[in-house]
Formats: sequence, C-alpha cells, structure tokens
Amino acid sequence: MKIFSGTSNKPLAQKIAKKLGIDLSPLEIHIFPDGEKRVRVLDKVVGEDCVVVQPTSPDPDVNYMELFFIVDALRRSGARRIKAVIPYLGYQRQDHVFRLGEAVSLEVIATLLKWGGVDEVISFDLHSIKIPEIFKIKLTHLSALPIFAKEIKKVRNNTVLVSPDMGGIRRIKVLSEMLNNIPFAIIKKDRDLATGKVTMNGIDGEVKGNAIIVDDMISTGSTIVTAANLLKNKGAKNVYVFATHAVFSQDSPKILGNSLLQKVFVTDTIDIPKEKQFPKLEVLSVAKTIATQLKM
Ligand code: R5P
Repeated sequence: MKIFSGTSNKPLAQKIAKKLGIDLSPLEIHIFPDGEKRVRVLDKVVGEDCVVVQPTSPDPDVNYMELFFIVDALRRSGARRIKAVIPYLGYQRQDHVFRLGEAVSLEVIATLLKWGGVDEVISFDLHSIKIPEIFKIKLTHLSALPIFAKEIKKVRNNTVLVSPDMGGIRRIKVLSEMLNNIPFAIIKKDRDLATGKVTMNGIDGEVKGNAIIVDDMISTGSTIVTAANLLKNKGAKNVYVFATHAVFSQDSPKILGNSLLQKVFVTDTIDIPKEKQFPKLEVLSVAKTIATQLKM
C-alpha cells in the first residue's frame, strides 16, 4: 500500500503512515501565481493500492480540487485501487434539498469522486447516517465516539450527555450505551436557514452535575456556546464539549476560548493551525482508527 497526503492535513497523514509502518509517498504540488495547481506523483504506483488523505476544510473547494488532481495523477500513473481518506467530508450538510431551488452539493461531490477514479471513501462522523446512500462507491463511515467514550470515562461520575439538537439523538444514544447507559438530554434547537441564527427552546431530560455536549462539528461555535449557556442556567456544574470536526470558522476559537466551557475536545480530522488553538482545547487523534481500517 502507498499513502499520499494532500496539503490540508499532513500531520494526520504522517501519523497514519507511522501507524502503518510506512513513509508517506512523495507528491509534487506546484501552485501557479493565479492559484491553479499542478500535481505530480513522484513514486511508482503501477498495480498498487493507493490511499490519499485529504480532509476538505478549510477551504473545501480548494481541497476538493487538489484531491481530484491527486487521484487523477494516481490513476494515470497506473494505481490499481484508490481510497480517499476524507476524515471531514465537506458539503455533508447539504445532503438533500432543504428549500425549493437548492443544489444538493454533496451529490455533486459524490459524483465527482466516483468519476474521478476513487474506489472507496473513508470518512468520520457524518452529519447523517443516510449519506453513504448518496454515494455510488463504497463509503466507510468511521466514528470518533469510542475515542470520546474512553476520555469521558475519566469524568463519568454525576454526568449527563447532551445533544445540542434533535439531529444528534442517535449519536448521543450510541455514546450513552458505550458508557453503561449514562443519562442523556436533548436540547430543542432551531436554526434560521436564511440567517444561520441559532435559538434554543428548552431541554428534554434532566441536567445536573457535569454536562457533556456531543456534536459532529463546531463551525461558528454558536450551537455549542448557546447550549453551554442554557445548560449553566439549568444548573449544570461544569460543561464540556466533545465534537469530532473542528471546522472552526470565523471567530469561533475566540468565542469558545472566552465561553464558560470547561474544556473543548475535538479530533484531528481537520488540521488546527496554531492561531486557531486556545488553552481549553484538547485534540484527540483518529489516526489509529484510520490505520486499523486501512489494514483490513
Ligand atoms: C448541526 O446540525 C450540526 O450538528 C452542528 O451542530 C452545527 O453544524 C454546528 O455549527 P455552528 O458551530 O456554526 O453552530
């Protein structure tokens, strides 16, 4: 097996390669002055199974294009099978038509990946469990929940898991089962589709002791911070967050850092540059889970 990395999360690709006991294969990625890229494979791949690691945030479009070019270069160089490890799969929140006239962006991405020559996609904690149905190639859906469960066991006493919206019910139930059925609660969240503004109207379930918010991603941070404020008002002692994808758009690192959250746990599905890190942040790695999957 040969493993290649795009430019979006090389540290994760290096960790995966290390777990597999191999080196990353070399690629040349040249950026022209106008932003176009020229990609060249610098390894022999004829008849080889190749893996490309490239989560897509930020910038989703730039990272997807780079991935398509790497896959094309591998295919033209004779690779046998190509697996795209896209730990954070961009556009997954646009997996169906919400309002008449909208594009289904994820379906466009799925089509491009298939026609570009990808045989399998490996991704993490997808926004909806129905997403693999959109893909006409195999999509292996991995989860960071076992990694979170291991960490949560350390603070489990007097703890309630909290989903910040109805969409997270399945996730919270699975995690609760992993932790011997610890109690969970669900916040009633509403988001204005036009403005993105989040409002929260109460909680189903009892909140006492430590509250652990579990979500698939943190983008602007408004879901998590609004949930944390609500939980504190309802009497939670400490509020923690476990979210798989640190999308961290706009001012979210600052907002999260200044919030009343005790700690924010995320994974390294997306690389977090130094300027987006803050003292309350702890990053757990998904490298071992991906390496184990690749060995299968
Ligand atoms: C929503 O359905 C998702 O699970 C996340 O809660 C949401 O995407 C987070 O976005 P933000 O951080 O911008 O509130």
